[in-house]
Amino acid sequence: MDLTDLETPALVLDRARLASNVERMRSRLEALGVPLRPHVKTAKSIDVVRLAVEGQPGGITVSTLREAEYFLDHGFSDILYAVGIVPSKLPHVAALQRRGGEITLILDSVEMAEAVAREAEALGTAFPVLIEVDSDGGRAGVAAGDVDRLVEIGRILAGARGTELRGVMTHAGLSYGCRSAEALRAHSEQERSRAVAAAEALRAAGLPAPVVSVGSTPGALFAERLDGVSEVRAGVYMFMDLVMADLGVCAEEEIALSVLATVIGHRRDLGYLLVDAGGLALSKDSGPALEKPGYGRLWDAATGLPLGLEIASTNQEHGLVPAGDGDFRRLPIGSQVRIAPNHACMTAAAHERYHVVDGGSEVLAVWERCNGW
Ligand SMILES: Cc1ncc(COP(=O)(O)O)c(C=O)c1O
Repeated sequence: MDLTDLETPALVLDRARLASNVERMRSRLEALGVPLRPHVKTAKSIDVVRLAVEGQPGGITVSTLREAEYFLDHGFSDILYAVGIVPSKLPHVAALQRRGGEITLILDSVEMAEAVAREAEALGTAFPVLIEVDSDGGRAGVAAGDVDRLVEIGRILAGARGTELRGVMTHAGLSYGCRSAEALRAHSEQERSRAVAAAEALRAAGLPAPVVSVGSTPGALFAERLDGVSEVRAGVYMFMDLVMADLGVCAEEEIALSVLATVIGHRRDLGYLLVDAGGLALSKDSGPALEKPGYGRLWDAATGLPLGLEIASTNQEHGLVPAGDGDFRRLPIGSQVRIAPNHACMTAAAHERYHVVDGGSEVLAVWERCNGW
């Protein structure tokens, strides 16, 4: 099968670029002396994640219990569920544990620490837990430096029969807004030092904190040292995307993921051409690091190389691409293009499967994804 045989829009994954991105992260973390617990939320595919865990301890990070279930079915048992837990999900987690999963939970409040401990006893089980620390004011977590709250939560988790305090985790999400390599390096060091300080505060209070889990793709690739960190979580590095390219984390030609689309119209009068990939196939995520609006850049369908064109706006099933005379000639109606995504995690989530290529347009394999919740 060739890409030209596919009905569009369709998701395309370049295996050579994927392998090179995976190797880059592996060798960087090897140099820093810290193992990887890949975040599978981007790939949601056993075929991709098998490559990512090669040479690593084998633990993974998930963003949904659906992912936990799917990867457990495929032989992964050491799973960090890295989204704040609530009691309504605990029966599902307990069922995964009964099937052999060791599912570590995260939380950041006294209320949830008490609720998880209570619910665990009612379910006749115990849950390993990390306390989430907010290392950059970006999202969830105990604010960095709020030692009183951290230790209060830690004491509840360590003192209850239904919870086992394992340590701390953080995700420095504001790194995606950094504008220079120097800023990325500084942000990564801030994430490391604040996570390590939180673990040390727990230890100073006589509490266990063997796990210090940090990570994002820019954080991992720009870290200069990771002393005190026990594992790194990164996910989007497997595919990369335009947000990462604009941050300077990768080149556009290193992005492994794209959406195959067909030119469905020429509006020479208005100066744009139309493709059959809109908001649903690409996502509306403009990505925090992108200053100018845009929903993906066009590549040649066969080679995966940039054409210098961009989706300027989307409707549900239409993408509008500002174009000139030469573009109308080289991209006739019915021709195919590939579109590099702004945010690979969001774009991939719109699709059920990857069509795997290796530099060219021959489809070598079809890999399924586990979408949904
Ligand atoms: C908790 C957590 N850890 C790790 C990651 C991985 O970050 P990245 O996709 O930049 O590799 C994310 C991404 O959103 C996350 O939410």
